[in-house]
Amino acid sequence: MSNRDIELRNKAETAVEENRELVHSDQYRPNFHHMPPVGLLNDPNGLVQWNGVFHLFYQWMPFKTDHGDKFWGHYTSTDFVNWEQQPIALAPSSWFDKNGCYSGSAVVHDHTLYLFYTGNVMNEKGEREAHQCLAVSTDGIHFEKKGPVVHLPDGYTANFRDPKVWRKGHSWYMVIGAQSKDLLGKAVLFQSDNLTEWELVGNMAGAYENGLGEFGYMWECPDFFELNEQGILMVSPQGLEEKGMNYANTYQSGYFTGRLDYQQPDFNHGVFKELDRGFEFYAPQTTLDEKGRRILIGWLGVSDQYEQAHPTIRNKWVHCLTIPRELIWNGSQIVQKPLEELKEMRDSILLHSDITIENDQKGIRGIGGKSIEVNIEFENIEEQFAVELFHYAAFNYQKKNGVLTLSRPHLENKDKTEFRRVKISNELKQLRLFIDHSTLEIFVNEGEEVFTSRIFPQIEDESVLFTSLGSSTFSIEQWKLNGYT
Ligand code: FRU
Repeated sequence: MSNRDIELRNKAETAVEENRELVHSDQYRPNFHHMPPVGLLNDPNGLVQWNGVFHLFYQWMPFKTDHGDKFWGHYTSTDFVNWEQQPIALAPSSWFDKNGCYSGSAVVHDHTLYLFYTGNVMNEKGEREAHQCLAVSTDGIHFEKKGPVVHLPDGYTANFRDPKVWRKGHSWYMVIGAQSKDLLGKAVLFQSDNLTEWELVGNMAGAYENGLGEFGYMWECPDFFELNEQGILMVSPQGLEEKGMNYANTYQSGYFTGRLDYQQPDFNHGVFKELDRGFEFYAPQTTLDEKGRRILIGWLGVSDQYEQAHPTIRNKWVHCLTIPRELIWNGSQIVQKPLEELKEMRDSILLHSDITIENDQKGIRGIGGKSIEVNIEFENIEEQFAVELFHYAAFNYQKKNGVLTLSRPHLENKDKTEFRRVKISNELKQLRLFIDHSTLEIFVNEGEEVFTSRIFPQIEDESVLFTSLGSSTFSIEQWKLNGYT
């Protein structure tokens, strides 16, 4: 470890110590979501299971509640419920990553954990340089930087980052999020036999390729995997115009389904489908666990989308990650299912069956709280059904057009209400909500659609109200969640 590395680590640890009390006094601090110990957290990185242990890294700026020269923070768990905070994995201390150890991924090979990440550098001329770097570990805690392994190829700007690595047969592949010289978003494929020497294969997808038209000026955080023999390319494109109910956030995250020809390369794919319909969801990453499940965690935030208006800033922290979700191919799309293990957090249960509400708004005895899971199964909705949370957010279903709407006060202008919507083709049959102080994750019809958002209600308000236009009949289960330890 260099002196600069030690210095940066000490400075980060001091920032954690000095602000611990303030950060933990924050009323909006969730109970079972990953947060920064101080400062700003963004993308999940390097999610991987190794010898039974899940490693979850994250983009971290310890010194302010804004973006900057990122570190990789590190959590580990054996069960997705109990998490341990580990020492900083990567600090931006080297010439090739001095302005940020940016996002990347992890793979396990030969008793070694390999981290691939982007070294972000601003040179003397104030221009960006991007180096795709490697760091290795044999104990999963201490990482040795090996420096750049992939250099910027011709034809791309230095917006070239977020390597995601996977194995296919005897080869390793890496997909990188890129911007071409003509300022179009691309996903670029590399190949390697040994994880250290990489060869450019070419663009596997991008704006104006494979039948896509205009599709953003930069693609961030790509991920490629197979789900039931479908090739899935997840990306977070920047620069999509809002269209009807789609692309309503500043930046989007979603996926294309198709078949990847690794040789060309060419990813022959269909349309882009957004993974989430809420206000805050970006830069998700997946891993395949030892049970063969495809697990996703996302950032419960969006860059440049009124980040400085989050009230947690006054207590020196901002953003968190989503709960882990299992991805399943249902024959026509990905569905997201809260990871089975989260049931271990369930404490007391409340159950009400056959509730009917008719042209009325009601609370239901015992339903409410700050750290809860709620499952609602509908028998019938005549016209409209809505759940109102803490006199703050509302989630509404209109049967006649199948539109689901999440609304909340605008974070920058409380007098305005903002909305996110999606139209579902099946009737609303089921809702599963995870609420954790200032987070809300709504899984619709077993995860066909998901709405992920931050919520900042008055803290003493625990009320959950149900509204029906016409008559709605449903049953409801609620668990108090005891959270991460
Ligand atoms: C996505 C992103 C990545 C980058 C990282 C920097 O949110 O912009 O493209 O590597 O964040 O923190």
